[in-house]
Amino acid sequence: MEVRDKVVIVTGAAAGIGRGVAEEFVLRGAIVLIADIDVEHGEATAEQLRRSGNRGFFIPVDVSDGRQVRAMVERVIDNFGRIDTLVNNAGVVLFKPLLDMEESEWDHLLSVDLKGAFLCSKQVLPTMMQQGSGVILNIASNHALSTLPDSEAYAAAKSAMVAFTKSLALSYGPKGIRSVAICPGFTDTPHYQRWLQDVEDPKARERETLRLHPLGRIVSPADVGKLAVFLASEDASMITGTSVVLDGGVSAQLYVSE
Ligand SMILES: NC(=O)c1ccc[n+]([C@@H]2O[C@H](COP(=O)([O-])OP(=O)(O)OC[C@H]3O[C@@H](n4cnc5c(N)ncnc54)[C@H](O)[C@@H]3O)[C@@H](O)[C@H]2O)c1
Repeated sequence: MEVRDKVVIVTGAAAGIGRGVAEEFVLRGAIVLIADIDVEHGEATAEQLRRSGNRGFFIPVDVSDGRQVRAMVERVIDNFGRIDTLVNNAGVVLFKPLLDMEESEWDHLLSVDLKGAFLCSKQVLPTMMQQGSGVILNIASNHALSTLPDSEAYAAAKSAMVAFTKSLALSYGPKGIRSVAICPGFTDTPHYQRWLQDVEDPKARERETLRLHPLGRIVSPADVGKLAVFLASEDASMITGTSVVLDGGVSAQLYVSE
């Protein structure tokens, strides 16, 4: 699990899973770039990581904008000279009946969740190839494997992320670069809290969600962070072109009784 002094870009790290991933990397001595569209929370996260004596820096970026992504990656290389790990985590979620979904909403979700991973990977790959090493971790979702009604755009983006990961691993494996997707289940983030509040009885939704979990709790951002650290480390040097499901057993079951 050695990632000391590694240079790690985590997109969407101002909150939620990305923040949990950033925290786990800095705890182990990595240099972490918090790349997020949310300036206020991105700066606050970086400030908090630095106050605890660690190395976290904020860089504003909209991952769906190729020009901004190129500028972000150039800044990282100018300042730190290398990029060891990219975590493509930034994402937006929209669950909505297909018939009500606007073309612009479909485009926005795919632009952030999928095109963002393409743009960021494209910009870091030349540096990783020069180094002869690098790891690209893609935060997909268990929606890539099984999904729910009214999730067409999100499920499409996340299963595409898994396929993207496999091809990336084949193309750049010979250059020393690995690529792995992480498929978290219900994870306690601002997004999850918004989803709970989206119904008349949030407590009932929370109880129902917990019932799906054989381990009796949902995933935490730190759980995802610990897995990401392992996958980025040399201990995972033979893991590439695959995905790891991190959902506390939710997707293992066919049926949940009352
Ligand atoms: N929370 C869950 O239950 C869950 C489960 C599986 C997968 N995921 C995935 O994990 C990732 C993070 O989810 P979360 O729950 O932490 O979400 P969140 O909404 O709590 O946080 C998302 C972060 O991404 C940033 N972001 C949004 N658009 C951006 C853009 N265009 N450019 C840069 N940054 C942007 C936001 O500012 C925010 O900081 C997403 O890809 C999501 O699909 C979440």
